[in-house]
Amino acid sequence: MDFEITIEDLDRKIAARPGVTLLAALLSGGIPFAYSCESGNCGACKCKLVRGEVDGLVYSEQALSAQESSKGVILACRSRLRSDVTIRRLAW
Ligand code: FES
Repeated sequence: MDFEITIEDLDRKIAARPGVTLLAALLSGGIPFAYSCESGNCGACKCKLVRGEVDGLVYSEQALSAQESSKGVILACRSRLRSDVTIRRLAW
């Protein structure tokens, strides 16, 4: 069963297959989204996880600080969906 991603700042919803990263789902759903390395090193894909759960893959602390993480900021390229989620883009 697909998960649903709500992009709060666009007021849009897309479906995502289980197992894909949030970034892959956003891009395949045609959502404009900032990214670069796709490997957890640059921080370009930061977004706010407003609601829902993700599994975080390994990333560099230079890309996302512990302080940011504690405030619900995630790296889309390093996050796999565990539930329906609501996110807010930070770079737009
Ligand atoms: S695209 Fe570089 S950390 Fe996600």
